[in-house]
Amino acid sequence: MEIEKVIDNVYWIKNNGSRILTTLNFKQGVSVYGERIFRLNGREYREWIPSRSKLAAAIYKGFKPVGLREGISVLYLGASTGTTLSHISDIIGREGKAFAVEISEEIGVRLILLAENRKNIYPIIYDAAKLEDKGSILQRCDFLYEDIAQKDQVGIFIKNANNFLKRGGYGAIAVKARSIDVLSPPKEVIERARQELSKRFSIMKLIDLYPFQKDHAIIFVKN
Ligand SMILES: C[S@@+](CC[C@H](N)C(=O)[O-])C[C@H]1O[C@@H](n2cnc3c(N)ncnc32)[C@H](O)[C@@H]1O
Repeated sequence: MEIEKVIDNVYWIKNNGSRILTTLNFKQGVSVYGERIFRLNGREYREWIPSRSKLAAAIYKGFKPVGLREGISVLYLGASTGTTLSHISDIIGREGKAFAVEISEEIGVRLILLAENRKNIYPIIYDAAKLEDKGSILQRCDFLYEDIAQKDQVGIFIKNANNFLKRGGYGAIAVKARSIDVLSPPKEVIERARQELSKRFSIMKLIDLYPFQKDHAIIFVKN
């Protein structure tokens, strides 16, 4: 087996011509969503599954998410039960902070349990569209990540970048075309999202997530 670094705490494990994306496990011995754990040279790596995480899918499609690194603060909108968030927690490590926003109280219970095991996660059970109400507990962050299936997902991303993203910081938004507009062709909806974002940010890369996710793209931006 061979190990190749992608970004801080993210590695390809290569074996017999195939490769598996992994993150260095922040909480040794614990698998978060049933992903496999590999132990190599005294270190523990968790498989990062691209069909379960749009960020992993973007890396499988060749993108290195610059800006995501050890020690940074991340504002994560639409954290759900924490699948992708757990890998971001691995990446940012002990010195990092991930503010994880989830609207559903029911789902939020699992998020809170995850945060008990991972001290760099700070759950906020609230509507990402109204986060300015929570301004006092939030600091400006280095990275903004959004994955919410809402019609106004682009507007919510821009508003939170205005309020909580550092100048020069990075962001990524998972665009779910069908949630924005069910009638127009998904490629057209994604292009409209890209254009709207380009008025506010520099666009680093737009990645169509097929075959891992249908009618989804992820757009990486710099503030
Ligand atoms: C597609 S799931 C997120 C999956 C997660 N990002 C991952 O990769 O592990 C979308 C989540 O966004 C949440 N959500 C939807 N609208 C929201 C809002 N306005 N504010 C916060 N969370 C929201 C949903 O409850 C759901 O848990």
